[in-house]
Amino acid sequence: MVQNPKEGKMEWIPVSEDYDYHQEVARSAYADMLHDYERNQKYHFALKAAIKKMHMLGKPAHVLDIGTGTGLLAMMAAKCGADSVVACEAFLPMAKCAAKVIEDNNLAEKILIIPKRSTELKVGNGGDMLHRANILVTEVFDTELIGEGAIGTFNHAKKELLEPNSIVVPSEATIYAQIVECPVALAWHRPLSWVNEDENFVISAPSRILQCAGSAAVHDLQLSQLSENSFRPLVPPTPVFRFDWSCKDGLLPYKRSESIKVVASRSGTVQVVFMWWDLRMDEDGEIILSCAPFWAHPNYLHKKSSLTDSGLPWRDHWMQAIYYLPSEMPVNQGERGLLKAYHDEYSLWFSYQNIISPESDAKDCNGVALWVEWDLDGENTISTGPLSIPSAGQTVSWDIHTRQGVRLLPSPLSLPFSFEARFLSSTCDLSLSIKTNAA
Ligand SMILES: C[S@@+](CC[C@H](N)C(=O)[O-])C[C@H]1O[C@@H](n2cnc3c(N)ncnc32)[C@H](O)[C@@H]1O
Repeated sequence: MVQNPKEGKMEWIPVSEDYDYHQEVARSAYADMLHDYERNQKYHFALKAAIKKMHMLGKPAHVLDIGTGTGLLAMMAAKCGADSVVACEAFLPMAKCAAKVIEDNNLAEKILIIPKRSTELKVGNGGDMLHRANILVTEVFDTELIGEGAIGTFNHAKKELLEPNSIVVPSEATIYAQIVECPVALAWHRPLSWVNEDENFVISAPSRILQCAGSAAVHDLQLSQLSENSFRPLVPPTPVFRFDWSCKDGLLPYKRSESIKVVASRSGTVQVVFMWWDLRMDEDGEIILSCAPFWAHPNYLHKKSSLTDSGLPWRDHWMQAIYYLPSEMPVNQGERGLLKAYHDEYSLWFSYQNIISPESDAKDCNGVALWVEWDLDGENTISTGPLSIPSAGQTVSWDIHTRQGVRLLPSPLSLPFSFEARFLSSTCDLSLSIKTNAA
C-alpha cells in the first residue's frame, strides 16, 4: 500500500504476476515480530486469560486470529486450549507460510487457515466460518497504530464475525503526543540555507520554501536514540486518542479530531510532536504493552533504573514517530495552548495554537479578517486563509496570490470575544453578531 500523493489516500499498487513476494516477506518485519519477546509474551498472557474466562463462564472458546502472519497467535490459542481456532491472512504468500509453520508444529488439525482479508469472510453454512467467534486476537498495528487499517478491521469483525460480548485481545489502545522543540528533527523536514565555513551563504532558499510546512506525513524513528540534549520537551506526554477495540460503546469512528488544553512546562519553540501508543491487552487493564520512548516508558519510570537496566525492548516493527507542525510557535512557561490531534482511517496529524489569555493579552480589536475555505471531498480543502494559524501578537502571513476581506467593527473590542457569522442570501451579505465576554 502507498499514499496517493495527489489525494493523500492509501492505495494498493498492482504488481506483475511474477513479482517475487518471497523477497518481500524476507525483508519484512515478520522475523522482528517473532523476536519481540515482550509483545509475544503479553499476547500469550492475555489470550490465555480470555480462553480461561470463556471456560469459566461455561462457554466454549472460539478464537478468530485476524492477520495470522506466521501463525503465531493462532498456535498460542490452540495451545491454550481453545475449542476452535480460525486464522485468516490477507497476504497470500504469508498465508501459505502460516500453513507450513502450523503443520510443522502438528497443529494443522486444530487451526483452520483462510487465505483472505477478514473483511471478505462469510459466516454460516457454506461460508468461511461455521459460526461467529467469541474471542478475537489480532495484531494489525503499525508504528502509527492505525496505518494497516485497524479501525475498519475491528469494526467489521464486531459487526460480522463476533458474538456479542466477545473478548477482544488487545482490548484498547491509547495514542500519546508530546510537544517538543527539536531543531534537529525540524532540519530533517525543512530545507535549510547552506552556509559555508566563513558563514557565507552558498545556497539560500527563498523564504516561502524555508517556511513551507511540508507534508503532515508520519516520520517513524527510534526516539530513545535521539540524544537528550537534541530536544526540549515543552509539554508532558498527553493522551490524545483512545481506541476501544472491543467496540463496547459502538463502532469506532473513522475520523476524529480532539482539542486538548495543555500548559507549557518550560519556555521554548513548539516545533514538532513526538507520538507513541500503548495497548491494554486484557479487559482488566493489568497487561500493558507500551511503545513509549524510555523517558515515558512504565519500565523506566517505575523502576527508576538506568536506560540499560530498564529492560526496554528493541523493536523495529513498531517505533515511535515525529509529526511536523504547520508552523513554529514560541511559548513561555505556564502559557496555555491547544494541541489539536486528528485522525482518519489510516493516519494521524497534529497542530498547535496558543490560547490567548484574557489577562495577559487583552488588546483592542478593530475588525475581523474573512477568507474562504473550499471542502473538495471531505478530506482535501483549498483555503485563502493565513499560511499558518497565528497567535496573539504575531504577524500573520498570507499567500500573496489570494485575496481576503476585512469587516471593521463598529467600535474597538477587547479580546477575547466570539462572533457568529450568517450568510444572508437575500442581500448576498454576511451578518456578524458579536458576543463579548460580558454578554
Ligand atoms: C503485524 S502482522 C502480525 C502477524 C502475526 N499475527 C503476529 O502477531 O506475529 C499483521 C498481519 O496481518 C495481515 N492483515 C492485516 N489486516 C488484515 C485483515 N483485515 N485481514 C487479514 N489479514 C490482515 C497482514 O498481511 C500481516 O500479515
